[in-house]
Amino acid sequence: MLRHLTEIDDLTKKEIYEVFDLCKKMKKGQISPKPLKGKAVACIFTKPSLRTRVSFEVGIFELGGHPIYITDPEIQLGRRESIADAARVLSRYVGLIMIRTFAHSDVTELAKYASVPVVNGLTDLGHPCQILGDYFTVLENAKKKARYKIAYLGDGNNVANSWLNLASLIPIDLRIGTSAETPPDKGMMERALQNKESQVLVTEDPKEAVKDADVVYTDVWASMGQKDKFEEKSRQLSKFQLNTTLLSGASPDHLVLHCLPAERGREITDDVMDGPHSVVFDQAENRLHIQKAIMLFLLKESKKKKK
Ligand code: CP
Ligand code: NVA
Repeated sequence: MLRHLTEIDDLTKKEIYEVFDLCKKMKKGQISPKPLKGKAVACIFTKPSLRTRVSFEVGIFELGGHPIYITDPEIQLGRRESIADAARVLSRYVGLIMIRTFAHSDVTELAKYASVPVVNGLTDLGHPCQILGDYFTVLENAKKKARYKIAYLGDGNNVANSWLNLASLIPIDLRIGTSAETPPDKGMMERALQNKESQVLVTEDPKEAVKDADVVYTDVWASMGQKDKFEEKSRQLSKFQLNTTLLSGASPDHLVLHCLPAERGREITDDVMDGPHSVVFDQAENRLHIQKAIMLFLLKESKKKKK
């Protein structure tokens, strides 16, 4: 049955662990599948990228495929022709479509009409590949635990939303420290609250969010497409900066994560980013392994007959 990853909850809890298992094996070089052999992959970007673009392109190459980088001036998705028609056409050429764009509804529309897997490489609502890779990084680096205390500090943006979406499936004690003006998405919040195995707290008190946390996470205060709000967001979020004073309240062996790109000196200080708790570059490396695991999983499942 055709499978997509528009958000993390397109997967079941069991499938998430299957993706992590594939990721682990691929990272160790224990498997080298070529599910994209002889196929091209459309990589649509209407926002900038370093990690997502390069990790997908390298991942596609390593899975035997050929990436095609498509920017907005060419494709003009939804403007030059309907998203449905673009999805139908692309599906005749490529084995998979990866898209980074603004409106999440553009990704779900593409997935609705495509006959190949569609992967969300970030929208204004969510960043599922990022959070799957990040949780894999936590599992790799933290002491084994049934439920991690994860503190996300900063803007209630796409990254915070995908953490909530993960918490709707995987048991997490998730604390989001943010201002009253920058909350995460309501729908994502409601879905997370339905998972009784997880605990979710949104607080305006950064110390409460960080208390005894196993993982402390941040992201830029003003996301792509919102850079005009930079001054306003900086004012609203300054007390949520990751610095050594705030992090003294976290668990002594906490990990520091940042999806990157970082605006050093704003949401995170240099000494935290480069300090002994930071795993940000392992986290960035894992984007490559998780993209490969996601693509392999979706291609494999899409080949199976509908039950
Ligand atoms: N973390 C992340 O998605 O980085 P890019 O914006 O560089 O792809
Ligand atoms: N929230 C950030 C994430 C970048 C990877 C943005 O959307 O710009």
